[in-house]
Amino acid sequence: MKINSLKLVNFRNYSNIFLKFNKNINIIYGNNGFGKTNLVEAIYTLSLTKSFRTANDRNLIKKGELSTKIEGEVETNTCNNYQIIINNDGKKVKIDNKMISKMSEYISNINIVLLEPEEQTIFKASPQLRRKLLNIEISQLRKEYIIYLNNYNKTMKQRNFYLRELYVNGNASREYLDILTKKMLEYGYKIYRFRNEFIEKINKYIGQAFFNIQNSGELFVKYVSDYNNKTEEEILKNYQKNYEKEIVMGKTLNGIHHDDIVFYLDNHNISEWGSNGQQKSAILAFKLAEIAIIREEKGMNPILILDDLFSALDRNKIKNILSVLNEDIQTFITTTDLKIINKDLINKALVFKLQNNEIKEV
Ligand SMILES: Nc1ncnc2c1ncn2[C@@H]1O[C@H](COP(=O)(O)OP(=O)(O)OP(=O)(O)O)[C@@H](O)[C@H]1O
Ligand SMILES: [Mg+2]
Repeated sequence: MKINSLKLVNFRNYSNIFLKFNKNINIIYGNNGFGKTNLVEAIYTLSLTKSFRTANDRNLIKKGELSTKIEGEVETNTCNNYQIIINNDGKKVKIDNKMISKMSEYISNINIVLLEPEEQTIFKASPQLRRKLLNIEISQLRKEYIIYLNNYNKTMKQRNFYLRELYVNGNASREYLDILTKKMLEYGYKIYRFRNEFIEKINKYIGQAFFNIQNSGELFVKYVSDYNNKTEEEILKNYQKNYEKEIVMGKTLNGIHHDDIVFYLDNHNISEWGSNGQQKSAILAFKLAEIAIIREEKGMNPILILDDLFSALDRNKIKNILSVLNEDIQTFITTTDLKIINKDLINKALVFKLQNNEIKEV
């Protein structure tokens, strides 16, 4: 997958820019705060309809303006025009000028993988953030995934509401609780299977990827779920056993909304055992495994973003990561300092310099 060109209107610090990209390496450099991350954020948002640094789309609109537009020509199997328009009324997405009403139809088209230094905080964060990581990666591969996830969350909300209703009104129908439970389980089990399949695939690649970066250690990821190793019937019985407890608590106690992933390095939980550097390498290895999965499933490489990565890693690790990348991966590298980037790489790359909210090719 390659993004050939990008047009931004009132996106973050940019009023109006149009850029044509190199099919291989693109380097974006400029001082702190000049808009490097903003630029790769636009590419990321064009791919997944959401930013990686804000949950509020309106932050993407240039200060003082009413709307923003991101537009790009992207080559996948075919070359198409993609657009994201955000204003006070919400967000619209288009492919070849045709409005797409289901986000799930849009999101799985352009695959993108982001590597950034801050991502190692994933090990210290709550399970919710690790589930979010899973959701982002799997929804790029499986169109139905987001639909099931939305349905699961909606049904669970209804179910929690009904549990509280049952607490107040003990005579309310248990049959309806059964119906909601079965419905939630149906969606939840599908999500469970997608997540399970994805983690299995991650484990096919992550060990080697980690070893390539770190030169030692055995890494694998464990999927932790209430549904683990249980049939749908067993899970349903488990729910039914807990009805009374759930009615008192007023919420659904089990389900894929508690899922988590745990990274094990040499059989120890890396978040409690691993060094800073090992944690950094682990999340990088996860992302490299993700690239391999996309290549395997889609028959082409995703677009890769390395935001500020080179300042955060030592030279050896950078060398190891770059050796994994090949000519066929379109890569966007942001940096404040061109000197830390290998000359060979710069010679191959298209270099964009940011200054005064302007971008110049150098
Ligand atoms: N909605 C917005 N409208 C206008 N300007 C914005 C908006 N959102 C962010 N900015 C500006 O964008 C700048 C930050 O840009 P960005 O994060 O891309 O910098 P950067 O080049 O990646 O810096 P660093 O090297 O520190 O990572 C800030 O100066 C901020 O004020
Ligand atoms: Mg930045």
